[in-house]
Amino acid sequence: MTHIDFLKKFKKLKPSELSCVFITFCFILCLFFLDYRSVGSGFRTRGHRGLGVWFGFSGSGHPGHELVGFLEPGHGEKCDIFDGNWVWDESYPLYESKDCLLLDGGFRCSENGRLDMFYTKWRWQPKGCNLPRFDAKTMLERLRNRRLAFVGDSIGRNQWESLLCLLSTAVTNKSSIYEINGRPITKHTGFLVFKFAEYNCTIEYYRAPYLVLQSRPPAGSPKQVRTTLKLDQMDWSSGKWKGADVIVFNSGHWWNSEKTIREGCYFQESGDVKMNMSIETAYQKSVDTVLNWISKEVDTNKTQVIFRSFSPVHFRGGDWKTGGSCHLETLPDLSSSPVSPSTMLFPNIFGSVLSKHNNGTLSQTKVELLNVTYMSSKRKDAHASVYYLGPKDGGPAPLRRQDCSHWCLPGVPDSWNELLYAVFLKREYSIAGNSTAASTRPI
Ligand SMILES: *[C@@H]1O[C@H](CO)[C@@H](O)[C@H](O)[C@H]1NC(C)=O
Ligand SMILES: *[C@@H]1O[C@H](CO)[C@@H](O)[C@H](O)[C@H]1NC(C)=O
Ligand SMILES: *[C@@H]1O[C@H](CO)[C@@H](O)[C@H](O)[C@H]1NC(C)=O
Ligand SMILES: *[C@@H]1O[C@H](CO)[C@@H](O)[C@H](O)[C@H]1NC(C)=O
Ligand SMILES: *[C@@H]1O[C@H](CO)[C@@H](O)[C@H](O)[C@H]1NC(C)=O
Ligand SMILES: *[C@@H]1O[C@H](CO)[C@@H](O)[C@H](O)[C@H]1NC(C)=O
Ligand SMILES: *[C@@H]1O[C@H](CO)[C@@H](O)[C@H](O)[C@H]1NC(C)=O
Repeated sequence: MTHIDFLKKFKKLKPSELSCVFITFCFILCLFFLDYRSVGSGFRTRGHRGLGVWFGFSGSGHPGHELVGFLEPGHGEKCDIFDGNWVWDESYPLYESKDCLLLDGGFRCSENGRLDMFYTKWRWQPKGCNLPRFDAKTMLERLRNRRLAFVGDSIGRNQWESLLCLLSTAVTNKSSIYEINGRPITKHTGFLVFKFAEYNCTIEYYRAPYLVLQSRPPAGSPKQVRTTLKLDQMDWSSGKWKGADVIVFNSGHWWNSEKTIREGCYFQESGDVKMNMSIETAYQKSVDTVLNWISKEVDTNKTQVIFRSFSPVHFRGGDWKTGGSCHLETLPDLSSSPVSPSTMLFPNIFGSVLSKHNNGTLSQTKVELLNVTYMSSKRKDAHASVYYLGPKDGGPAPLRRQDCSHWCLPGVPDSWNELLYAVFLKREYSIAGNSTAASTRPI
């Protein structure tokens, strides 16, 4: 095509096509910008090799050779895998939602009408090292005869379903993966236990949005007190998951006045309802209770205990009830702007309680932090927005009811699970004392 032909064609484009061309142009521009930033910051990530890498022209999909592997003995240990960049990777996503039967309709964005697929194409690249590529078979082999449990709110369920999909890619007989009580995946069930029969392992989810116990108030409480959160007692389900081999906790999204005080749910310590206690104080006490409980009740020689940090929301111009929006966001945040103070509120409280405990009864290696807050704060493009309702439910949802807290799958929670995979294997290898296996070569 000559330049003249091209210009003629260009003139004939309809406005909708023109805007499409414009968006593509902007996208490429953004990639140049990102590329430039990688060079500017002086980190030898794969970005510096040029734009070709972004589009898979020069063997992309493989992290840079110049960085050490996170699992490599000696070097990887010092690497902070939670600090890094999102890089374009043609080999992503790791699965398609239509191929995964274990996925809630609410996370199936592309099937619910989302057209752009950019959000599925970003891989998390730590600054200081390479992550091992997720290998479902390796993880299932390591989980043989064992249990992995997610405990927390619906963002925990988001991550749990992501892991189910990731792991199921290694299983050809899909009916060998089933819920042990035959229950379907829905939003409201208390707990769900999926068995991978070929490996005799279970991947479990327990809904416990506060981690501590929510139940009836003590007798004689004021009328407006309908329930209380017992800040010094664990959720009722704790007996069920305390023996799991890996536990991944999360909490945070339910610690707000809308879901507590305004619903008549107050905070309680021993017998006393604390009518005036702030949510921040209550949250801090709950974290303290959970960490104390772990040190007393969980055999951390057997169980790997992981906390996944707060998952940022991206409502702009309001919240989920007042028309806050993230619809039509198609690109990650490319600036290096710091995470907003409101997003950091709970992670900071959590971090300070955890460091207090790590200096006491729990050593650093006994409770690990899956610090996803920073990386996820850059992904305003990856929420379900209006695509949480399928055609059967009359979706897409109206613009004023956007979901900017849950994530589309495939998407960001897959990257959290790649980090989970890395810290899981790291512990496996350190327990086995197996230095030969500890490389980032495809395992
Ligand atoms: C989580 O990671 C970010 C980015 O590396 C860092 O700024 C923050 O301090 C970390 N938080 C904790 C509690 O370690
Ligand atoms: C299957 O796994 C469970 C733990 O999840 C274990 O208690 C049981 O012994 C295993 N069964 C076999 C046959 O190994
Ligand atoms: C698939 O798994 C189911 C449930 O474990 C089993 O009943 C069935 O025989 C398996 N099918 C094949 C072809 O292995
Ligand atoms: C709670 O706060 C209100 C107003 O700030 C005050 O009047 C009341 O005495 C406080 N109650 C308790 C139990 O501290
Ligand atoms: C855990 O392992 C350590 C070191 O091997 C040992 O000293 C400790 O007694 C073990 N704790 C339990 C509860 O088994
Ligand atoms: C751990 O706690 C002890 C006693 O409170 C204190 O002396 C020590 O400095 C603390 N260590 C760190 C690394 O914070
Ligand atoms: C150690 O690594 C080798 C090589 O990858 C592997 O074959 C072996 O099973 C590993 N041993 C243990 C105990 O994990």
